[in-house]
Amino acid sequence: MEKILVTGGAGFIGSHTVVELVDAGYTPIIVDNFSNSDSNAIRGVEDIIKRSVKVYEGDCNDLQFMNDLFITEKNITGVIHFAAYKAVGESVGKPLEYYQNNVGSLMILIDAMKNHNVENLVFSSSCTVYGQPDHLPVTELSPKKVAESPYGNTKQVCEEIIEDVVKSNAKFKAIALRYFNPIGAHPSSKIGELPIGVPNNLVPFVTQTAARIREELSVFGDDYNTPDGTCIRDYIHVVDLAKAHVKSLQHFNNQKTPYFDIFNIGTGKGNSVLEVVKTFEKVIDGKLKYKVDPKRPGDVEQVFGNVDKANNELKWKAELTLEDSLRDAWNWQKTLM
Ligand code: WQD
Repeated sequence: MEKILVTGGAGFIGSHTVVELVDAGYTPIIVDNFSNSDSNAIRGVEDIIKRSVKVYEGDCNDLQFMNDLFITEKNITGVIHFAAYKAVGESVGKPLEYYQNNVGSLMILIDAMKNHNVENLVFSSSCTVYGQPDHLPVTELSPKKVAESPYGNTKQVCEEIIEDVVKSNAKFKAIALRYFNPIGAHPSSKIGELPIGVPNNLVPFVTQTAARIREELSVFGDDYNTPDGTCIRDYIHVVDLAKAHVKSLQHFNNQKTPYFDIFNIGTGKGNSVLEVVKTFEKVIDGKLKYKVDPKRPGDVEQVFGNVDKANNELKWKAELTLEDSLRDAWNWQKTLM
């Protein structure tokens, strides 16, 4: 069974991807420094897959640690790199930490991969590179905009670093997956999103409001130039997103080195904040308490993806609906109460 290194494998998307890797017959090896994840996620993953998973606690920014890991774990055939800080607002106040961690870790990882002849890399990128697109839905050829935050810029810089490494090194293959908005939880409710502190993102705030952990949801602006005045995003179930990583690894098998490509990973459909609220109310068969507050600085009005390229080339397509995602997110939240 092919061994795949999953950095940040105890995180929200990483843990769901580890489950899908096992389901597809791979052997995942997790690396995580647990700076923004919880070891309970490992137990949840092991509960689902009914077997243990190897976990190395450490930092991808530590070259000695990464070299030792590749020596210990021989025959790793690929790496999926999730490990990064991801709070847009936080990054504005801590740019150096974000560049050091997000960009530094990628460079150390690639260095260690090359030292040990590991040539397949799937990189966790983000639709944030598009900023506020001029045309919707965005395709992979849509222009990247000046990043609205250091976080978003680390994703752009990392994509460029990977592209340059591929150009310089015939024996390297890489795919950057530009995620839209990952939401939901595993249908088993054994793993899910575990935001630390007050959630920045919409869906965990919605579920925590319904769980009475938060007083009420603030809807950031209802006078945007959209049908109901609230922002539009492409919300994708985290399990569908996890499966796209497996498809990416399989896609490498048909590619010659050097190879680099970029894929939008979303549903291809946009939903507004109020549509999320209404769909959630349908899921709980009740009302969600919310108020309209001023717009949040840095928010783009509308972004959702054209996902034809991933559908056609990765043979991957999102199958779960917004309602599926919100139902699974709510079932997960209820396990935390
Ligand atoms: C979605 C919509 C808010 C909270 C960010 C990153 C992206 C990815 C996902 C890491 C917006 C509105 C939100 C709330 C609200 N992160 N909202 N009340 O900002 O689209 O994307 O997180 O990879 O890279 O950019 O996601 O969930 O924060 O916001 O009204 O309490 O919900 O204004 O319109 P976002 P989000």
